[in-house]
Amino acid sequence: MVCLGNICRSPLAEGIMKTKAAQAGLNWHIDSAGTGHWHAGELPDRRSIAVARQNGIDITDQRARQFIPEDLERFDLILAMDTRNHADILRHATTEAQRQKVRLMLDYSHPGAARSVPDPYYDDNGFQHVFELLDEACEQVLIQYQ
Ligand code: 4NP
Repeated sequence: MVCLGNICRSPLAEGIMKTKAAQAGLNWHIDSAGTGHWHAGELPDRRSIAVARQNGIDITDQRARQFIPEDLERFDLILAMDTRNHADILRHATTEAQRQKVRLMLDYSHPGAARSVPDPYYDDNGFQHVFELLDEACEQVLIQYQ
């Protein structure tokens, strides 16, 4: 799960996907990262922690890290939160196999729409909406790959 800062959207995506995978009894390794380095080492944004908690998910064990090109080898699937993250990740891909792993998160819930998860960093009221978009997309990821 990759966004820009790895403090708002992708930590929620990681928490939601981990919860769904655990409930389905799947042994998936799920992680998140940011294309930017500014927040590395930090807890998720307090507003993401709050909205996750309101929905029964604890994400306070997470710490932000920057995306590294090796992630394209270590993971089978790289889910970008928005079209900019998608393009930034693709710049690191060196093989067609790596390029195929990079997908836009909301393509799973809104196929072909090239829809982005809106960046809620400057919008205190955007976090529940982001949670719902990610929950819907993660449910489709689960259905597709479980
Ligand atoms: P995220 O949100 O990419 O969903 O973690 C952001 C967090 C921090 C910044 C931008 C977006 N920032 O500019 O510091």
